[in-house]
Amino acid sequence: MNVRNPGIANFGITVIQSRHSVRKFKDEPVPPEFVRKALECASKACTACNVQPWIFVQVEDRETLGKIADLATYGKFIAGAGLCILVFGEKDHPFVIEDCSAATQNLLLALHAYGYGGCWVAGDKTPYAEAVRALVNVPDKYKLVSIVAAGVPDVGGISLVEKKKLEDIVFHEKYE
Ligand SMILES: Cc1cc2nc3c(=O)[nH]c(=O)nc-3n(C[C@H](O)[C@H](O)[C@H](O)COP(=O)(O)O)c2cc1C
Repeated sequence: MNVRNPGIANFGITVIQSRHSVRKFKDEPVPPEFVRKALECASKACTACNVQPWIFVQVEDRETLGKIADLATYGKFIAGAGLCILVFGEKDHPFVIEDCSAATQNLLLALHAYGYGGCWVAGDKTPYAEAVRALVNVPDKYKLVSIVAAGVPDVGGISLVEKKKLEDIVFHEKYE
């Protein structure tokens, strides 16, 4: 393959292909400079018409993490995370879900690139979204789109879940 930007491409593809959800964390913090870098990456995500309708709430307080874990149906492991980042979007913006999802994926990829683990926990369309928003005092012009739990992985190595084969999901020119 003739790669146009070998350094960036090789590293980028490796990060994307090896990203995986991590739900078990060591009792160690993620250094603030890495959290900031991940948030910077989130802020660089694609966003329709460059509206950037997002805000991010970084939560490290153990008690608050516990409360979010209690609320999140499939996010009990947030209680043991080093931190979580709550991704909120302007609820009246038509592309709020797309934009905030792109930012969420950037967060996960950046954390993974630095060797930290993360997992996307559902926010939008959940029964607890409003309670999480109220818990962290975010005004109601925003809605919770996602929660990213993050920390130092407490798992042995990388374990990738199986993904669908390209042959089954990619079509040339037309569906057939
Ligand atoms: C919109 C969305 C919501 C998700 N919600 C949760 C969740 O509430 N709890 C959880 O443990 N994982 C959640 N996940 C993570 C998925 O379970 C995970 O990405 C999927 O199983 C594939 O595994 P991988 O991330 O290791 O590739 C969510 C992912 C997405 C995109």
